[in-house]
Formats: sequence, C-alpha cells, structure tokens
Amino acid sequence: MRLRAAVALGCLLTARGQLPQVLEEAMDHVHPRARAELETFFAPGGPHASFKVRVEEGCIGGAFPVYDWKKLVPVDAKWGLESLIAARLHQSKWFAADADNALVAFRPHTGERSLLTKCRLKLERDFPGKQFWFAAATDRGRCCDGGQLRDPGLLNHHFLVTSGERRRGAWLFREHNTKHAWRAPATRDTAPRLRCFDPSMDVALPPPAFVRGLYRKRDITRDLRAANATRRFLAVHAEGGVAPPEYDLRRALTERWAPDWWANARNRSWAGHPDLLIRKALGRAEHGEALFASKYCLVVEGYAPWTPRLSEAVGAGCVPAILSPALLPPFAGVLRWRDFAVLLRPADIGNLPAVLASHDHARLHANLLKVRRLLSFIATGPVNDDDALPLIVFEMWRRSRRRREFLEGTATALAAPAAAPAGVHSTATEPLKVAFACEADGTSCAYAVRGARWNCSRRTKMACGCAKE
Ligand SMILES: *[C@@H]1O[C@H](CO)[C@@H](O)[C@H](O)[C@H]1NC(C)=O
Ligand SMILES: *[C@@H]1O[C@H](CO)[C@@H](O)[C@H](O)[C@H]1NC(C)=O
Ligand SMILES: *[C@@H]1O[C@H](CO)[C@@H](O)[C@H](O)[C@H]1NC(C)=O
Repeated sequence: MRLRAAVALGCLLTARGQLPQVLEEAMDHVHPRARAELETFFAPGGPHASFKVRVEEGCIGGAFPVYDWKKLVPVDAKWGLESLIAARLHQSKWFAADADNALVAFRPHTGERSLLTKCRLKLERDFPGKQFWFAAATDRGRCCDGGQLRDPGLLNHHFLVTSGERRRGAWLFREHNTKHAWRAPATRDTAPRLRCFDPSMDVALPPPAFVRGLYRKRDITRDLRAANATRRFLAVHAEGGVAPPEYDLRRALTERWAPDWWANARNRSWAGHPDLLIRKALGRAEHGEALFASKYCLVVEGYAPWTPRLSEAVGAGCVPAILSPALLPPFAGVLRWRDFAVLLRPADIGNLPAVLASHDHARLHANLLKVRRLLSFIATGPVNDDDALPLIVFEMWRRSRRRREFLEGTATALAAPAAAPAGVHSTATEPLKVAFACEADGTSCAYAVRGARWNCSRRTKMACGCAKE
C-alpha cells in the first residue's frame, strides 16, 4: 500500500517538474551552462523524449565472452559497470532496438584486455564509419591498466568509464613488471603522453560500490545514517591489505599518520592521531562502520586515479576528500564538485587535520546529500529516474551531438604539447592526429606521435607496455 503511494507521488512530481527529481534536487550544484542544457534536454517534448539507445551485441559469443547483458546478476563489486549500464538502459524508456546510438554490451573485465580492440575491429567491419559507446570497466578504459594508450582506434568511439581523467595536469603511468603486474614502480614516463580519457567524447561515471550487496538498492536506514552529520572522526583511510608499497600517496598517508603501524597493528588501544582513523588496514566491517562515523573519507589514487572508495564515501554521506591529482570526478562537466567534496593536493598530507578542519563540513555534507542519489546506481526494481541513469543518458546525448569526423586509421588524441619537457608530468594537452595500425587479434597497436613510432602490446592477460621503435 505504502509502496503504491510512493510510486504515485513519484509520477506526480515527474509530471509537474520537467526535470527528474533526482536532478531537480541537485540543481544548486550544477554548472550554469549544464543547467541550461539539462533544462533543454528534459523540457516537455524535448530531446529526452526522442533520444534512444540500442544495445549492440556483436561482441558477445564466438571469440568474445558469452554474457547475458539483460541480466543484472552477478554484478561484480568493483567491475559491475558494464553489466549494469546495458541492463538498466534496456529497462528504461531510452532503449529502442533500432536506435541509431549504440551501446556496446561487452565485458572487458572477464577477458583479456586486448579483446576490446578485437571488438572495435569487428564492429567497424560490420558497421563502417559508425561510432559506438563502450561501457568499459577495465581499469583505465581504452588504455592499458598502467595508463599507456593501448589502441588509438578506441579514441574514435565514446567511453563510459569509472576512470575519468583530467585533460591537463599530472600524468599517471604505472609500469608493468613481468613478475608483479600490480607492483609497478611509481609514475614514470614510459609511454607516449596521450590521455586515456577525452572529456569531449567520454563520460566519467561513479564506480558502482556494490561491496557485498550493500549499495545495490535504496535503503532507508542507510539513508538516515548518511544524513547524520554528527561524526566522531575527522577522516578515515585504510591503505588496504593488498596495496603494494608503490601506491605512493596511500603509503605517504600511512607513513605520516600511522607511523608505528607495523608495531601497533595488534594494539587495540593505539589510536594514532585522535581525530584521524588512518590505518594500514581496517577490517571490512570496521571500515564500513567508519564511513558513517567520519566527516571526511579519503579517496586516494592507487594503481589508477579512480577507486570505488569514492562511491562508498558518497553512499555513507561521508564527504569525499579526494587525493588523486589525475582524477576527473564523475560528471565533472555537470556537477560542481567543490560544493560537496574536498580536492586535496599531495602537499596537504603533512598538514591533513588542519587542511580538513578549514573546510565547512556542515555545508559540504548538506550539499552532498543533494547529489548523493545522482552518484549512485540502483540495480534492482523498475527504473525510476532515481539514480545516475538520467544524467548518463543526458551526457550521452550531449556528446553524440558534437561528434568528431570518423577517419579510419587516424584518431585524435589529447597529447602533451611538443614543447613540453619530457620529465614534466604536469602539463596541458592539445588535440593531436595520430596515425595507427593494430594487429587483427588486438594484441598490439603501432602508432606515430610527433615523429616517434611506438608499439604498445600485450604483456600479460591484463597488462601491456609500450616501446619506442
Ligand atoms: C548521529 O550520530 C551520532 C553519533 O554516532 C549519534 O549519537 C546520534 O544519535 C545520531 N543521530 C541520529 C538522529 O541518528
Ligand atoms: C598500545 O598503545 C598505547 C597508546 O598509544 C600505549 O600506551 C601502549 O604502550 C601500547 N602497548 C603496546 C604493547 O605497545
Ligand atoms: C608490435 O611489436 C610486436 C613485437 O615486436 C610485433 O609482433 C607486432 O607486430 C607489432 N605490432 C604492430 C601493430 O606493428
């Protein structure tokens, strides 16, 4: 009975306002230009009513993993994005089997990373000149996990990824090591400096945070806890049980704020800094509780700029304090992140309590509650315009309208300017035409960048590396 009343109320609100309520609620934290475009898209009879997306299944079966994209389960805790988007889109009003815009149903995580290139080559053969949307939850989207651009051809298509990366500023490459793919030395410039992510083509999404099913559906109790601004700790961070020491920023936090960790790991009364719950590791349950008991949750880059910690923090109403210089946060072209998050610099680590205390937590927390649903995914029940999906569709529409010309064998990459000194990791980028050719099996691509020829190839199932020819 109560459920029916809630559904009826939802319809009433949608009919009255033009924007879905989840967006209406967030409007104070939307950039003015995006606000105008959102109002255009969702106007009665506006583009939202005619914009449709189909799901392309050409990369399922045969040489590709077989995958029932209409099924939501099993949704992987960290990599569930590609299963989620296609299935939810299919259930939504934006799905049409014959639409011109196509989302590729594909599970890169389940297979070798080179399958993404193989899929691109197949689709370009089957649909010459057509551009697709890839929902890719591989670590760095169209790049290798270490951040090296693996296949420039993927730049001719759109990506929906969790790894939004800035088009200027720090570069984050992790090197591949044959013994320990994940234990790479910290950032070094071992590939052409081309960006993995292009904000004019791609959409950065919040990572799904479905750890043990916690965040798959609305939960009133959790929402009430998230809304509680009274919190015992100033900040929480767990470096992680498996994080290799090369995760330099995470390690720097532990070394500064939990210096005696090795000696004190089993000492329950040892508290480190009284306001910071910063540890080498926390148990899952303890960490889950700490997210609700902390004002700020540190979201720190690891192997890649993104981490599901962002969504865990948002879900718990814990203001994200992001320490990931290369990260472009989800929907950054729409949402004003400084209204509800803190963007930290590596230099802030030494002074963390004072830096965090200088922010107005009450304001940030109140604002976070207004965008919290927009940064979440509901994976159960009918699609109700109650999570990130309406904004994702808007972002797809926005980018589909301003498409680059498609030229086979050539792509436009965001590159460091020719004058940028090689050792400088913090630079602006500019669009650069790159000529490329890939092996038919997708395992390597060769391309030219300002006169230098590179070959980026598969080294292990997951990792690849680039070499100058
Ligand atoms: C908010 O959290 C504090 C600290 O955990 C708790 O004491 C208080 O009862 C909570 N308030 C509400 C309204 O739940
Ligand atoms: C545990 O930590 C407390 C508080 O810092 C300290 O007083 C105590 O000596 C520590 N115990 C051991 C066995 O290290
Ligand atoms: C890249 O290098 C590998 C190893 O030398 C070679 O087998 C492959 O053909 C090269 N790829 C391209 C696209 O030229």
